[in-house]
Amino acid sequence: MTISTLTVAGTTTPETTSPATTTPAATTSSAPDTRTTTATLVADDATDATFRRAQQRSERIEADLRVDPTAYRVVTGDRPTGDLHLGHYIGTLANRVRLQNAGVPVTVVIADYQVITDRERPGPLRDRVRALVADYLAAGLDPRRTAIFPHSAVPALNQLLLPFLSLVSVAELHRNPTVKAESLASRRTLSALMLTYPVHQAADILCCQGTLVPVGKDQLPHIELARVIARRFNDRYGHVFGEPEALLSSAPVVLGVDGAKMSKTRGNTIPLGADEDQTTAAIRAARTDGLRRITFDPVSRPSVANLLTIVGALTGREPARIADEIGDGGASALKAVAAEVINESLRDLRARRRELLADPGYLDEVLLDGTARASAAAGEALERVRVAMGMDYFGG
Ligand code: TRP
Repeated sequence: MTISTLTVAGTTTPETTSPATTTPAATTSSAPDTRTTTATLVADDATDATFRRAQQRSERIEADLRVDPTAYRVVTGDRPTGDLHLGHYIGTLANRVRLQNAGVPVTVVIADYQVITDRERPGPLRDRVRALVADYLAAGLDPRRTAIFPHSAVPALNQLLLPFLSLVSVAELHRNPTVKAESLASRRTLSALMLTYPVHQAADILCCQGTLVPVGKDQLPHIELARVIARRFNDRYGHVFGEPEALLSSAPVVLGVDGAKMSKTRGNTIPLGADEDQTTAAIRAARTDGLRRITFDPVSRPSVANLLTIVGALTGREPARIADEIGDGGASALKAVAAEVINESLRDLRARRRELLADPGYLDEVLLDGTARASAAAGEALERVRVAMGMDYFGG
């Protein structure tokens, strides 16, 4: 399912089976549980069908990439809302490094404008953006191959938002499940930026001629919207954009130490920047259950299964085998193994991360270089858009 098993930051990126079968990923969404009406049940079925199609398509794309790694251009990104954690490492970072090292062109967007979709203040962006770059490089992204840039620094990208907004209706945006869930979760009035951020994200992708976006299940509607925008633009003005596709990750979704979705806002993460003692303490305090014998059962024993999933993902082994080995050692033995494996796997990354953070000038250079490359690509895309729309008043 993955291209191959590649070494990432001194560990291996494991081959795992699909998230639908190995992890409780499908049930850990931030969306409110409203599975009671027939309408929602029908919608869930449709979502499942879309998910299965996307999974099959992703397998074919992985096969294509094995033959020709340059067949697609990957665009991916993060919001700079806090430090990256183990869930990011296992879920997305390792996969980006794998794609890059396989020769796939990768662009990473630091979505700083997206920070203010669900909060009023952007926070200490400069530090967070640098820390993000340090995490990326420490994990193995190579700035000579992979462009990393904050989208606020690329005017042409942001300008693409204007024509794109004319191609979608407000009703369509209100139907976007992420927009719906996030507006409910943040219990605030829905800002126009929150409503339109999937369109802005389409600009992130399309400005760099992105054709492949590695995503989790919850981001599939965003990719669909980017495809719709590309298609409608092309239909209206002539062909400018390729339709990007989703690449579903085969990596498991990791839960936080409290058994809920691992997220910065819940404070239940293992940050990549934590030291070994902090990591060991967090794992020791992690929730488990009262059963002595360790078994891998994601449905009835999610917190125990989660620790086994983490160990499995970092060692490339089957969680069930690890459970068998620990057996009657109980939660304390499982936690000892987990803390050791995590610290071992992140040791090199953490050392590099520390070195990089000590050199902010270098991190800024990496960003500046990435921004220059993204600006060139976005400038070209905007120029093609201007020509297609008849707005190239001053061109040749
Ligand atoms: N919305 C994505 C997230 O929260 C981050 C993101 C911004 C992104 N722009 C992107 C992801 C473009 C892929 C492509 O995780």
